[in-house]
Amino acid sequence: MDVLSEGGRRFLTATAPEHTAVQAEMAELADEWEFPIIGPDAGAVLRLLARLTDAERVFEFGSGFGYSATWFLRGGADAVICTEFDVEEAERGRELARSYGYDDAVTFEVGDAMETIDRYDGPFDVVLIDHQKSRYLDAFREVLPKLRHGDVVVADNIARGPIDFERLVDHAADGRPLPTTEADAQTHGIGTYVEAVRANDAVETAILPVGSGIAVSTRVE
Ligand SMILES: C[S@@+](CC[C@H](N)C(=O)[O-])C[C@H]1O[C@@H](n2cnc3c(N)ncnc32)[C@H](O)[C@@H]1O
Repeated sequence: MDVLSEGGRRFLTATAPEHTAVQAEMAELADEWEFPIIGPDAGAVLRLLARLTDAERVFEFGSGFGYSATWFLRGGADAVICTEFDVEEAERGRELARSYGYDDAVTFEVGDAMETIDRYDGPFDVVLIDHQKSRYLDAFREVLPKLRHGDVVVADNIARGPIDFERLVDHAADGRPLPTTEADAQTHGIGTYVEAVRANDAVETAILPVGSGIAVSTRVE
């Protein structure tokens, strides 16, 4: 059952943060191309996390043309390292950053984010995991040693299909095995990620039902 009444939901929509000019342009592009951006509700959480951590450096796994990065910048982050294996998306991101004058604050690294992260030492104040769900846990394992106490990891699309939520519920409730077929890779990826961050004493995690669902973990040791 949805805990929000229709009126409550309309109120939240009406009070969501407004886009800046570049974000509005990016949101239009995303609509046109059906490209999945994090959206303003979850974006506002990224902005808040950058503000709360007084972020200097942010690392993103999967940046597209940099919409999520603009939310970190709005929260005062000094630098966002964007990763994208689609050359055209990255170039579009660079062009937008140049034309709106924030190109000194974003770096677009073209290639597999899982390789790019090896070339960057930490620490990162905030990390966004938003690439292939089947690789979320690998990304988390890569960045955990690069985080200090209080640094944050956000994983997007926790509740965005195609995911077999019944299998996830059965696994969480009764320990029934997660599916392992190729077709179920996204279900398996989200199931193993959430299980791992919940079980790991190095982090505390809350899953927030904003946007497509985000898991927010902070390093506590
Ligand atoms: C959900 S979109 C990212 C949206 C972006 N974070 C935002 O909210 O504006 C995922 C992007 O990750 C890219 N991607 C997927 N796997 C990747 C990988 N292993 N390395 C780099 N980019 C990857 C895809 O090409 C796609 O553009």
